[in-house]
Amino acid sequence: MHVAVIGTGYVGLVVGACLAETGNDVICADIDEDKINRLSAGEIPIYEPGLEPLVRRNLDEGRLRFTTDVGFAVRESEIIFIAVGTPPDEDGSADLQHVLRAAEAIGRNMNGEKVVVTKSTVPVGAAARVRAEIEKHTTYPVHVCSNPEFLKEGAAVDDFMKPDRVVVGVDSEYAKKALEELYAPFVRTGKPMLFMSIQSAEITKYAANAMLATRISFMNMVARLCAEVGADVDEVRRGIGTDSRIGPAFLFAGCGYGGSCFPKDVRALVRTLGDYGVDASILEAVERVNDAQKRYLLEVVEDRFEGKQLSGLTFGVWGLSFKPETDDMREAPAIVVVDGLLERGARVQVHDPQALEVAKRHFGDRVTYCEHNYDALTGADALLIITEWKPYRRPDFQKMKRLMRQPIIFDGRNLFEPERMRELGFEYVSMGRPRVVPTLVQAIAAN
Ligand SMILES: NC(=O)c1ccc[n+]([C@@H]2O[C@H](COP(=O)([O-])OP(=O)(O)OC[C@H]3O[C@@H](n4cnc5c(N)ncnc54)[C@H](O)[C@@H]3O)[C@@H](O)[C@H]2O)c1
Repeated sequence: MHVAVIGTGYVGLVVGACLAETGNDVICADIDEDKINRLSAGEIPIYEPGLEPLVRRNLDEGRLRFTTDVGFAVRESEIIFIAVGTPPDEDGSADLQHVLRAAEAIGRNMNGEKVVVTKSTVPVGAAARVRAEIEKHTTYPVHVCSNPEFLKEGAAVDDFMKPDRVVVGVDSEYAKKALEELYAPFVRTGKPMLFMSIQSAEITKYAANAMLATRISFMNMVARLCAEVGADVDEVRRGIGTDSRIGPAFLFAGCGYGGSCFPKDVRALVRTLGDYGVDASILEAVERVNDAQKRYLLEVVEDRFEGKQLSGLTFGVWGLSFKPETDDMREAPAIVVVDGLLERGARVQVHDPQALEVAKRHFGDRVTYCEHNYDALTGADALLIITEWKPYRRPDFQKMKRLMRQPIIFDGRNLFEPERMRELGFEYVSMGRPRVVPTLVQAIAAN
């Protein structure tokens, strides 16, 4: 099938490459000329496991093309995905200007009957606005449908290739058939393709993200209680996660959610609920808990060093991206933590396996960038772990102690066992688990 993808960011690029991989003729269009030039040369502007070989192969075999000419992509295609950004507006609602601009370009370049798919995360009612915008400029029949994307950054290619389900909101048999044909290779193993009304599909995406964000904030709230009373949130997690009504996923306490989706989608849903007079207090609390959780690690550090000023102290930071396996730092907890340390006069040495270049745009020359995770520990008074990258999980603890001025770890992702850390001679503070301080005997024995 001939497919256009408008917007070649995280989502558009993955969708375009995966659809090309199954034999479709795909044109990815974006207004960012630099991005398109790099992609046309086979250079991938983001870090996403497995994406680079996929793009290169399909580019080489001629099934994937990149252009800045959105009109050309539209004219060449029978199915057009809109995958542009929907950033938050000042009031928290999703800003649809890019989506509507893409719709206008589609309308102006219609040269036959086409299916237009909103892939961007858009509030309920957006597909109707897209249709209205297109129909302002054409009399050719257009079938607008909603196909929200559930891929996770860091596992995006796998998620798109092997989705748990494909959700499609349609109101025409023509669009349903087209999407069924396009997605058939991805649901061969029996995963469901769920056809529903366009409004239901639009709400499904927000409901999914809001539910996941709610589980995270809920567990962070429980972790705060555990920390107060000396309980262990991991024990509580196992205690509730084994209940088949609850299940084990998304129950890990941490230092808050970030990224380009959860924060903005929770805010946008709060706004939509308000627009329709529906009480949004659950989600307002989810957001409030998350904002507080991003600052929590800083508060714990301040308490430990007894004072608001941390000047004269050096902190190593492991992990800057909002989650592992991506270089995306949008709304990452690390931004709040590192900025907070700097505001309090601390010196900060950061490491991240992929996000250092992105981090330079945030922090400039205010922090020291370390190519190796151990370099961030040299002369450090403490280590803060913000993102649970795999190489941080089994580090050389003896080497860490040799490099650090003081063996103190603030672990925002609960990577290590507290008792083991005590035996190793570390003072160890994690999220919702007992804080451990080695006894003098243990400290001497561990050295
Ligand atoms: N990133 C994710 O993990 C994820 C997951 C599911 C859904 N989504 C949703 O998908 C959408 C896209 O997200 P993203 O992370 O890929 O965004 P992004 O910011 O990485 O990419 C958006 C791209 O759209 C381009 N663009 C903007 N206006 C355009 C126009 N008029 N014509 C052509 N190109 C245009 C931009 O130049 C940019 O390259 C958002 O609505 C987001 O909420 C994102």
